[in-house]
This record gives sequence, C-alpha cells and structure tokens, in this order.
Amino acid sequence: MLRKILKWTGGIIGVLVAIILIFYFTMYILVNNKKSKPYNVEVRMIDIPSDSASVADGAHIYATKGCADCHGDNLAGKIFIDDAALGMLPAANLTFGKGGRPASYSDREWLLAMRHGLKSDGKPLLIMPSYEFYKMSDHDLANLIAYLKSVPAVDHELPEPKLGPLGVVLSGLDKLPLIPAEKIDHRYKPTQAVQRAPTAEYGQYLSMSCTGCHTPALKGGPNPVPGGVYARDITSTANVGKWSLNEFVTVLRTGKTPDGRELQNEDMPWKMTANYTDEELQALYLYLQTL
Ligand code: HEC
Ligand code: HEC
Repeated sequence: MLRKILKWTGGIIGVLVAIILIFYFTMYILVNNKKSKPYNVEVRMIDIPSDSASVADGAHIYATKGCADCHGDNLAGKIFIDDAALGMLPAANLTFGKGGRPASYSDREWLLAMRHGLKSDGKPLLIMPSYEFYKMSDHDLANLIAYLKSVPAVDHELPEPKLGPLGVVLSGLDKLPLIPAEKIDHRYKPTQAVQRAPTAEYGQYLSMSCTGCHTPALKGGPNPVPGGVYARDITSTANVGKWSLNEFVTVLRTGKTPDGRELQNEDMPWKMTANYTDEELQALYLYLQTL
C-alpha cells in the first residue's frame, strides 16, 4: 500500500515538474523571440536645436520625466533592478563617454529610442518606458534631445541586461513592461508644440508621465514593478478631488498628504514631481479634477 502511494506521489510530482519545465521553456522562447524581433518603422526627422535656452528647457524635461531615476542625474546610467529572481537591468549610459553613445549616434537614433522604443539596429529596447514619451511634442522632444547631446561625457561601462526566471515568466505573461515598442503606436504623429499654460489641456499632456504607474485612465492599478505599492486612483473621485490646489502641490513636492501620510519616493516619485513648476502642477491639478 505504502509503496503504491509513494509510487503515485512520485509520478504526480514528476508530471508537475514536467509541466513547470514546459511552461518555463515556452515563456523563455516567447520572450526571446519578442526581444530579438526587429521592427521596421519610419522615423520622422525633426530639427534638434543647440542654443542654451533650448538645452536648459531640455534639462527641466529630463528632471520632470523621471529619466534620472534610471539613467542617473549625470546621465551615466545605472543598474536600477538587480534581483536574483527578476534579473539585472541596467539603464544605458546616455553620455558620449566610454560605455555610452558612440560618437556616430545620430539624431535619428535618439528619435528611434524616444519615439519608438528601438535600438539603432531596430530591435526593441528593454524596459525603457518610451510608451510614456513618444507623444511628447516635437518642440519638447527636440529640447530634451538637445540637452541629452549637451551633457559632459562620463565613462561608465554597464553589463548586458539579463532576465532572471521570474523576469522571464512575468514578461511572458505581460506582467512586466519588458518591450516598450509593443505599447507604442508607431504611426502616431505628435503635435509640433503644446501651449504651456495653467489649463486642463496642458495638464492632460503632462499626465502622460503618470500613466505608466497610475494606468492610462489614472484610476490606479497594480504597481508596474512586481511587489510594489498599489498606485492609487488620482482622479477627482478619490483623494485628489477633496484636496485644494495647495494641498495637491504639497503632496507632489514633499510626499506629505493632508491626512498625515508620508509617501515614499520609491513608491510615488515625488522628488521628480517636486521639479515641476507651479504652472505645471496647477495644470495637472485642473486636469485631474475633470476626471
Ligand atoms: C524605468 C527606467 C527608465 C526610465 C524612467 C528611462 N529610461 Fe531610458 N532606458 C532604460 C533602459 C533599461 C535602457 C536600456 C535598454 C536596452 O539596452 O535594451 C534605456 C535606454 C535609453 C536610450 C537608448 C540608448 C540606446 O541604447 O540606444 C535612450 C536615448 C534613453 N533611454 C533615454 C531616456 C530618457 C531621455 C528618459 C526620460 C525622458 C528615459 N530614458 C527614462 C530605462 C529607463
Ligand atoms: C513610478 C510610479 C509612479 C509615477 C510615475 C507616478 N506615481 Fe503617483 N503614486 C504612485 C504610487 C505607488 C502611489 C501610492 C503611494 C502610497 O499609497 O503610499 C502614488 C500616489 C500618488 C498620489 C497620492 C494619492 C493619494 O490618494 O494619496 C498622487 C496625488 C499622485 N501619486 C500623483 C501623481 C502624478 C500627478 C503623477 C505624474 C506627474 C504621478 N503620480 C506619477 C506611483 C507613481
């Protein structure tokens, strides 16, 4: 009897192990195919300025779009996820130093990365959230690229990205935004310039930076980083609807909420939103009140 039970459990465990291996192998192949699939897109060229006012404006955009969280304040790149299960994900060195952009890196390549989430060879960038940036107006993106091209070169070599077993499975199941190119409308034509004013329209444009975590409808959703804090509803039906403009500004500049909570920068990146101008925060507030 006992021998029979042992034989049965052994068999069941064997079958389970086989199922898990087949599942993992399928995910692995799927993710590898997605990673190496080349895209054929048409890159619409725009003029990149180099005057100091445009570069200064680009620096402000860099500081308000969260680029520094992954690429660092000096743009030299860093390993922003290093986890045995998830994997090791470095964000590129964006300067022209060693380990960064080659001297031949052209405006077309900057646009390919920012508007399409693709590398020079047409293969997808990993994790780089271009789906939050590709709708940026020509004017704003041109200034941002002007800034990227202007920063001092830093020598910093980074390892190749590597997915761990959990990273493979989550990417295969689309629970990790591994391939930004998949979430981009490659034929979208951004406007030339968006009027900067304390209006809901401008706030809607700025709220692109919030959608990656708070979801496109800004109604909240699970954190895109596995295991992260739930990204709350930030529409008028939630707390934001009860807060005054001043209270809203305080939350986005200090992380301190009117009801006495302290948001952690690792959960809600308020050190990034602290860089927004009064006008930008007012525009965001006005837009969120319409939702
Ligand atoms: C969540 C982290 C994250 C954020 C935020 C982020 N990036 Fe990236 N970025 C990456 C990663 C990771 C890569 C490298 C991807 C690869 O090599 O497959 C990358 C690559 C790039 C590249 C392409 C480099 C190349 O190899 O061609 C550019 C350009 C770039 N980022 C610019 C920016 C700018 C500008 C911002 C802000 C507007 C930004 N990134 C925000 C993670 C991020
Ligand atoms: C990297 C992810 C991420 C991004 C980007 C992000 N948020 Fe958040 N945000 C969160 C998370 C997670 C919370 C919940 C934190 C908590 O509950 O402690 C949060 C909380 C908030 C809150 C407080 C809500 C409440 O009821 O307490 C506001 C307001 C807010 N975010 C606004 C914004 C705005 C506006 C933007 C865009 C400019 C933005 N967030 C971008 C992740 C993000």
